Amino acid sequence: MATLVTTITETLRYRGKIGQYSWAFHRLSGLGIVLFLILHVIDTSWAAFYPELYGKAIQEYQSPLFTIGEFFLVAAVVYHAMNGLRIIFFDYRPHLWHLQQKAAVGVFAASAIILLPTFIIMLGHTIDFWDRPAEEREVASLMDIIGTQSQFLLGFIVIIGVALAASFVMSLINGDEREARVVPKRPSQVDAWLWSFMRWSGVLIVPLVFGHLAMIHLIGSVFDINHAGAEVVGTTAINESGRAAEFVGRRWDHLVAGVAVWRIYDGLLLALVVIHGFNGLRYVVNDYAHNKIVNRAFNWAIVFGGAALIILGMAALIAGVDETAYRIASDLSNAASATVQNTTSPFGG
Ligand code: HEM
Ligand code: HEM
Repeated sequence: MATLVTTITETLRYRGKIGQYSWAFHRLSGLGIVLFLILHVIDTSWAAFYPELYGKAIQEYQSPLFTIGEFFLVAAVVYHAMNGLRIIFFDYRPHLWHLQQKAAVGVFAASAIILLPTFIIMLGHTIDFWDRPAEEREVASLMDIIGTQSQFLLGFIVIIGVALAASFVMSLINGDEREARVVPKRPSQVDAWLWSFMRWSGVLIVPLVFGHLAMIHLIGSVFDINHAGAEVVGTTAINESGRAAEFVGRRWDHLVAGVAVWRIYDGLLLALVVIHGFNGLRYVVNDYAHNKIVNRAFNWAIVFGGAALIILGMAALIAGVDETAYRIASDLSNAASATVQNTTSPFGG
């Protein structure tokens, strides 16, 4: 804890070296994306297992609060990706280290260049959404958002509490001292493998996550996910029912030469970002939590939490979205519009 306070105060106090700011932004952006990812994989799994709840989650994504969060999220992904590529480049080209500072400035400039048109397009989608007739917009209220997000917070607290209790019991069994510190040891084979995994996974994640965000924020938009009649991005299908689950179902069922391309794409993205992000989380925890019981508890929570997230995400991808979840809604809305047409047509049918 004391180390964390020192890091924050020294980062704010220490002015002059851009490397310090790059390091802090890289860490903050990585942590922000991981936090979003945990919520995102859980709520995407609802498209398969609890479609009604998924619809509500998307209504939260369309609220002004989440819209602001999405701009920050996109900025975090772009900066983290650019800076990650800089780290990887200099790790493998150490003789160019004297160019580090210029490269760090270049990363900020490149991020701004990418983000400016991106934000303009995202803003355009947001304005189009708020221009729609009110009955075509279903946005979650602030109270709904606080209600669901506090359940996630409670979940985090319970997981950390259980991990701390288990680690404490383990220390009693092992006979560890209560104040025992983590003793630094030489990096193992696994640590070395994870170090290079962070690098090659980073390179693979760049096209995958940029492609995902381009589909959801540039070509299409978050506001299309539950828009009846809107084209489902990356497919030739239309979201007929306007259910958010139909959007996901249509994407996952889209076949190219008999292959469910978006399922494979999402599966790859899921495995890479969860392992990369959770291992990054481990680095951060190991920097600040030196007490043995606390350190072990967080490491357990990270390993089991990451594994559970991958299993949940993969289970949703394999199960897919049950068509009845949106077929009934689609049939009902078609029947309703047919009745309206029948009763309002001047030709009587
Ligand atoms: C607000 C921003 C985002 C929105 C609205 C969004 C939306 C979606 C949607 C609709 C799906 C369902 C499947 C599909 O259409 O392919 C999905 C799946 C997925 N997204 Fe995102 N996404 C966002 C950002 C991200 C980011 C930043 C990441 C990576 C860090 C990410 C990782 C994933 C993964 C791994 C899946 C598959 C989940 C599973 O298997 O259950 N998404 N996303
Ligand atoms: C977009 C492509 C990405 C690239 C090129 C990239 C690259 C990197 C690199 C090179 C590191 C440093 C690893 C080390 O210190 O050994 C790192 C750390 C990290 N990454 Fe990424 N990453 C990417 C995406 C992501 C995503 C999507 C997440 C979240 C799910 C994430 C979360 C983290 C975290 C939490 C750390 C640890 C930060 C720290 O130790 O201060 N990264 N990343």
